Amino acid sequence: PLRLDIKRKLTARSDRVKSVDLHPTEPWMLASLYNGSVCVWNHETQVNKHTRFQFDVEYLHHGVKQLKAKLTVTSCVCPDDMLIKLWDWEKKWSCSQVFEGHTHYVWQLGSSSPNFTLEGHEKGVNCIDYYSGGDKPYLISGADDRLVKIWDYQNKTCVQTLEGHAQNVSCVSFHPELPIIITGSEDGTVRIWHSSTYRLESTLNYGMERVWCVCGLRGSNNVALGYDEGSIIIKLGREEPAMSMDTSGKIIWAKHSEVQQANLKAMGDTEIKDGERLPLAVKDMGSCEIYPQTIQHNPNGRFVVVCGDGEYIIYTAMALRNKSFGSAQEFVWAHDSSEYAIRESNSVVKIFKNFKEKKSFKPDFGAEGIYGGFLLGVRSVNGLAFYDWENTELIRRVEIQPKHIFWSDSGELVCIATEDSFFILRYLSEKVAASQENNEGVTEDGIEDAFEVCGEIQEVVKTGLWVGDCFIYTSSVNRLNYFVGGEIVTIAHLDRTMYLLGYIPKDDRLYLGDKELNIVSYSLLVSVLEYQTAVMRRDFGMADKVLPTIPKEQRTRVAHFLEKQGFKQQALAVSSDSEHRFELALQLGELKIAYQLAVEAESEQKWKQLAELAISKCQFSLAQECLHHAQDYGGLLLLATASGNAAMVGKLAEGAERDGKNNVAFMTYFLQGK
Ligand SMILES: *[C@@H]1O[C@H](CO)[C@@H](O)[C@H](O)[C@H]1NC(C)=O
Ligand SMILES: *[C@@H]1O[C@H](CO)[C@@H](O)[C@H](O)[C@H]1NC(C)=O
Ligand SMILES: *[C@@H]1O[C@H](CO)[C@@H](O)[C@H](O)[C@H]1NC(C)=O
Ligand SMILES: *[C@@H]1O[C@H](CO)[C@@H](O)[C@H](O)[C@H]1NC(C)=O
Ligand SMILES: *[C@@H]1O[C@H](CO)[C@@H](O)[C@H](O)[C@H]1NC(C)=O
Repeated sequence: PLRLDIKRKLTARSDRVKSVDLHPTEPWMLASLYNGSVCVWNHETQVNKHTRFQFDVEYLHHGVKQLKAKLTVTSCVCPDDMLIKLWDWEKKWSCSQVFEGHTHYVWQLGSSSPNFTLEGHEKGVNCIDYYSGGDKPYLISGADDRLVKIWDYQNKTCVQTLEGHAQNVSCVSFHPELPIIITGSEDGTVRIWHSSTYRLESTLNYGMERVWCVCGLRGSNNVALGYDEGSIIIKLGREEPAMSMDTSGKIIWAKHSEVQQANLKAMGDTEIKDGERLPLAVKDMGSCEIYPQTIQHNPNGRFVVVCGDGEYIIYTAMALRNKSFGSAQEFVWAHDSSEYAIRESNSVVKIFKNFKEKKSFKPDFGAEGIYGGFLLGVRSVNGLAFYDWENTELIRRVEIQPKHIFWSDSGELVCIATEDSFFILRYLSEKVAASQENNEGVTEDGIEDAFEVCGEIQEVVKTGLWVGDCFIYTSSVNRLNYFVGGEIVTIAHLDRTMYLLGYIPKDDRLYLGDKELNIVSYSLLVSVLEYQTAVMRRDFGMADKVLPTIPKEQRTRVAHFLEKQGFKQQALAVSSDSEHRFELALQLGELKIAYQLAVEAESEQKWKQLAELAISKCQFSLAQECLHHAQDYGGLLLLATASGNAAMVGKLAEGAERDGKNNVAFMTYFLQGK
């Protein structure tokens, strides 16, 4: 299916609408009413979908009056008089030709007789439209026999009849861009049909009584519809753009059926700012034989698969030469670049290697969705099952309904994203191998110890990818985040829905695309990701090697990460923030370092904290010095009396008196019998 999203953008109630038109550049819809009025609606400024709009376009006022007069004239020429008139506005709106006919003619302008007749409808024809694509000599017609017919006007045959409307068909239209036919009927519905397969894609019923007119516009996803009770604008489109990037920075996308390529490398040294649209040169690669819904590179980037309309075509990524194709509900690449799987139906999955079918199998509970990567994931009503690509043996069944599955490159970590959260699991390949060897711990749900849950996060992942052990994703609230070691770091707040394309380590940048095929990027240091990955793997040798490449200003962030992972000693060594270092030194009981930091900071608070630590460690002379710096007379009094240090009590008495700390001064003199 086309999977077009259909959203209602404007509902404008009025008297019966006989025709609608969309302005080519302004957000305006013009509706001419049966009662002789013309309305212009602005479909962007309206907030409330049901608000009525006045003529909000000043300059049109005058024009509309004239138009009204004109329309009154034309509406006298009622359609049922079997006349079609051609008006020439350059000749003062004079009627330059009248076409007469009684059946379904096609006229040539300037000729006084019809060029030919198409016969087929059994009742009156209400509407016709030309196919504007240029590649097919087609006409479409809708009639009172409730049928829609598509004609080849070169060989003058009916190519297809679309059945479904329950009443007279009042309007038909080939969309100028999308591969769809839109038809409207007096049955109150608008139907959307695929223009190549002629399958009925959707039936829209907005309850506005009979449909009279439809209008699509090139370069726009808006379609205007006119009804007995008003007009509606709907927006047709796919949610996710069909685009994919390989690891070298070549991006391939589909603009309708045209495939285009852009190369990040070609930007050279252009300065790039976070979130700004990249100035990419776009190269046309030719048109695709199917209407692409998704495009996906294989792991090594040599091939791309284009899927749509229940078909897939694998092309070479460089020249877009087709390598293989077939029918499939879904297509996924394996981790191994030469393998892929297709979901043929709700029960059959086929695995291919080097473009040859290797195995066809029927998963136990059916196949409602498949997921590629390290293991082959199959979703059924019962949950998710992971299979070995090699022998299709069940590895593990998990009770979860995934939306997306993302495997890390190493195959050790996997993110399973659902409708409302995501899970990070660790795949324990050694345990799997051991179980397979000795057949222990294997149940009907597969190998019990195959996965270990590392965490569940209550966020909805839209798109994601792994860099090392860091999972980078865009969320449903348009945040660009990454998750590592139980922690979420926000890279950016996006102003619209964006889709992750990939990460290029050499650029230290993440690339994202949007529905309008704009590409933006955000900086994300590979050194930080590598360091965090090394820490997660407890590989401190590697971490130490990476550390010098992390810029100073990023060190504290890394140190906080280390601290949260429980590596305080390492965090103390890495952090460049003295507050953070002091906290860490206290927690670690590192008196010397803490002392040094307290001296530098000259803060009473720090001296107090350090004094407490020194006392707990029985470092009384240090404690005394700290309490002194902190001017903590109470503390000094406690320390002096508890240690029975008469000399200290004496000094404290003098100091306290001098500083006006009379309570302490009184107590110390009293104790000394003075
Ligand atoms: C025609 O209908 C519109 C909207 O429903 C209304 O505002 C207008 O007054 C009507 N015009 C006539 C001539 O009845
Ligand atoms: C119909 O149109 C075609 C193409 O313009 C032309 O070649 C042909 O002579 C026309 N036939 C008649 C009967 O006008
Ligand atoms: C007319 O052309 C269409 C393709 O546009 C083809 O499917 C059909 O078979 C042709 N009919 C005749 C009678 O040649
Ligand atoms: C359909 O068109 C016929 C004329 O062919 C008309 O008599 C009939 O009322 C129309 N149907 C509806 C529902 O208006
Ligand atoms: C594949 O390419 C061949 C020629 O190279 C062409 O004949 C064929 O129609 C193409 N098939 C698809 C599905 O693109």
